[in-house]
Amino acid sequence: LSRQGTVVAIDGPAGAGKSTVASHLAKRFGLLNLETGAMYRALALKALHSGTAVDDGDAVLLLTRSTHITLEPGDGGNRVLLDGLEVTSDLRNPEVTAAASRVSVHGPVREWMVAAQRALGLAAPSGVVMEGRDIGTVVFPQAPVKIFLDASVEARGDRRFAQQPAAAENKETLLREMRDRDSRDRSREQSPLKPADDAVILDTTGLSLDQVLERTEALVAARLS
Ligand code: DC
Repeated sequence: LSRQGTVVAIDGPAGAGKSTVASHLAKRFGLLNLETGAMYRALALKALHSGTAVDDGDAVLLLTRSTHITLEPGDGGNRVLLDGLEVTSDLRNPEVTAAASRVSVHGPVREWMVAAQRALGLAAPSGVVMEGRDIGTVVFPQAPVKIFLDASVEARGDRRFAQQPAAAENKETLLREMRDRDSRDRSREQSPLKPADDAVILDTTGLSLDQVLERTEALVAARLS
């Protein structure tokens, strides 16, 4: 049975557990895991390196005309290729993180991204778990499974700090940056971060990792069978 075209959409704010859940579901169900945030990060990296103003939508759109971003399966996450060169290890620093949130507010830039993401998702013979902010609402509104993961900002900050202590100077800074990024992601005009009407919303604040994996796995198993 071909799973080509099958999409499990995982959306939610930073630090809600999307990556952990997505990579678990991908392994468990033999789907390709695609992290769309990494594509916004790669574009942001190119903008920073080329001196393009990340808040200038026209300039960033112009940059996309000569940009090619793809995701490939790798150990513990995607390998990200920017114009054919691997940039995976350059994408997690705080400057790129903030710039990614800022390039992602521009509508025409998002349209370009969404087209690239649909093409990647549809091309995978195995089907995909796609993780981001607008997968269930915009990229694949017909996805048979949509999960929106959420958690309190404190819980998300704690997890992020435990996972990646180098991602910020200290926990207060990390919380502040996370709040800024959240409010930009939720309040932007073009496809703001919000659950699709038919998404299953899972608040993971008081749940253990095992509980979250168990619940999401059961959901996918029920819908893909
Ligand atoms: O998931 P992440 O932290 O790697 O995402 C980086 C930024 O990219 C995030 O601040 C918002 C943006 N993003 C988006 O707008 N839409 C997506 N589908 C994925 C990420």
